[in-house]
Amino acid sequence: MRVVSGIQPTGNLHLGNYLGAIVNWVRMQDEGECLFFLADLHAISMPYDRAELGRATREMAAALIAAGVDPERAILFNQARVPAHAELQWLLNGTARMGWLSRMTQFKDKSGKNREGASIALFAYPVLQAADVLLYRATHVPVGEDQKQHIELMRDIADKFNADTETETFVLPEPYIGVTAARIMSLRDGTAKMSKSDPSDMSRINLSDDAALVAQKIRKAKTDPEPLPETMDELAGRPEARNLVSIYAALSDVAPAAVLAEFAGKGFGAFKPALADLTVARLAPVSERFNALKQDAAAIDAILDSGSARAAALGAPVLADAYRALGLLSGR
Ligand code: TRP
Repeated sequence: MRVVSGIQPTGNLHLGNYLGAIVNWVRMQDEGECLFFLADLHAISMPYDRAELGRATREMAAALIAAGVDPERAILFNQARVPAHAELQWLLNGTARMGWLSRMTQFKDKSGKNREGASIALFAYPVLQAADVLLYRATHVPVGEDQKQHIELMRDIADKFNADTETETFVLPEPYIGVTAARIMSLRDGTAKMSKSDPSDMSRINLSDDAALVAQKIRKAKTDPEPLPETMDELAGRPEARNLVSIYAALSDVAPAAVLAEFAGKGFGAFKPALADLTVARLAPVSERFNALKQDAAAIDAILDSGSARAAALGAPVLADAYRALGLLSGR
């Protein structure tokens, strides 16, 4: 099993990224060979702050390491340090179809009413994502539900490339939806994903928040006056309550039903303090490592340099095969 996954360097990691993706990454290090990267090339597909990008990339790397990604075992790097990603994307642009990309919901969402003004990079985003994975002949890609369409697309690209060139250049990767793959929602609105772009900082728990702030955010989280029921089904119309139960379950690594077995009949006056204690206990060691490591830019750069060199070495033969399959005379 060879695992590849990426995350956009959008500044601080929050509880949603942590429980939704990173916890799975950490676990997968025991199951296969892992390559994890900061998707800084993807970040330029939308308006962004040039002065911030490098800082955000290092900070996200620090957050991943603090959360348990081990750069000795996993290969940790950023895309921009491995030119083969951009290079393979161009080769795959010959295979990807306009129609396929036009159907991608992420492009529709992110371009909104301004399709004509969207960048080519935003349109071609899933082709770069295909290159990210196909470059390493990865077998599994741990992602959230919202990325499943992109995995389907990379399979289509790999399949068509192999068929068109009559080669077996690429491996078709499988999505890997982790066991806990918890979808963590905003603390202010149980129907919206927890997100770093939410204007209210009270809507999310950041890895950099201290214990007092974490407790305050949970105390103030939106809820309802009803006690907790006995089954998850009964939480159907109560998205905020459901979210807090899911967070508790993910943090304690048990099923939501087990949480309800413990708290059924109790109100949020009892549940919230327990959730706050649990969250602080789980996140404190991670935030402590994060806050220390993010001061040390040189150490982070050294890790990314070494990860990039390892990634480049793994990708080089595949990229050379892709050039050859297409009939291009290249120096690779
Ligand atoms: N698009 C992914 C996201 O926003 C990030 C990403 C980029 C990625 N390249 C990838 C994920 C390759 C998995 C594999 O979450």
